[in-house]
Amino acid sequence: MSKQRIFSGIQPSGNLHLGNYLGAIKNWVKLQNDFDSIFCVVDLHAITVPQDPEKIRKKIIEVAKIYLACGIDPKKSAIFIQSHVPEHAELCWILNTLVKISELERMTQFKDKSAKNKEGVGMGLFDYPVLMAADILLYDTQVVPVGEDQLQHIEITRTLANRFNKKFGETFVIPEPFITREGMRIMGLDDPAKKMSKSAESEYNYIALTDSEEAVRRKIKKAVTDSGTEIKYTDDPPRVDEASPRVEAGKPALKNLINIYSLLSDKKPQEIEELYAGKGYAEFKEGLAEVVVDFLRPFQEKYNALTDEEVLKILQAGAEKVRPLARKKLEEVKKKVGFIL
Ligand code: TRP
Repeated sequence: MSKQRIFSGIQPSGNLHLGNYLGAIKNWVKLQNDFDSIFCVVDLHAITVPQDPEKIRKKIIEVAKIYLACGIDPKKSAIFIQSHVPEHAELCWILNTLVKISELERMTQFKDKSAKNKEGVGMGLFDYPVLMAADILLYDTQVVPVGEDQLQHIEITRTLANRFNKKFGETFVIPEPFITREGMRIMGLDDPAKKMSKSAESEYNYIALTDSEEAVRRKIKKAVTDSGTEIKYTDDPPRVDEASPRVEAGKPALKNLINIYSLLSDKKPQEIEELYAGKGYAEFKEGLAEVVVDFLRPFQEKYNALTDEEVLKILQAGAEKVRPLARKKLEEVKKKVGFIL
């Protein structure tokens, strides 16, 4: 039986952090053994907000190095740069003719990002979900491992795939999102109500995968905690419905720190509670810093050993591998819409 295909990607912008690793890449490393896997550095998505050319050039290589140093194996998975396969932009254009403006206006991520953008919102940002749909649909992707915040984008991908299939005949596979417990949201260290973000204003929001040991200790020391002294893991209260905001009773800041500890050390939250029974926040934070540093050390050794040249070769080989799939699918699409090949 042939393996199911997964596709996922990360934008080369901002500093990749523990949330990206624990919420995404760590799962990909496991999934690549059981799935036919494609992991993309989505540079076309990154320029939907203004970017500095020199910086983005560096970031593209950096993201690829992070994939590799985290354990994505180019023998098992294809790693490539989105703009190396122009079919993504081409399919995006065709899907643009099927999407409704009102559907894109409903996207939460668009609403959030455009609220921050006082100088006027670019068309690219508005069209972001359609490009993401093209990424996924080009490769007959069955499963898309993503964070919870991307569910709405997967939903519109499914809508567009169904709409195309209905209008032009069976063409696209309808993808399913895949979210694991480990895909849980890692929240900001300075604000446990919001997801850890690589575009956060303060560097105290996240621990970058490239942070020094000193920075890790400093940031964890400064991380906000809840009132009280006990190391206690509080579970989410049940949500009334999807639309209701996530109310965190209990200790959201501590819960987030325990989650990080738990995911990096493979200890259950309850074991961590026991480990720190009768001890205070300071000691817990020291322990957490140790766990984080122990994780980052070997990761950074691998990262630093990779040269730009070898990474670029891997990315080019990845593009070679996926390009025929993209080309074939796009040809099928073009034929169906009536273009002459
Ligand atoms: N929008 C995704 C994110 O911000 C990144 C992304 C772009 C993606 N294209 C994709 C994820 C295709 C999965 C599949 O996390």
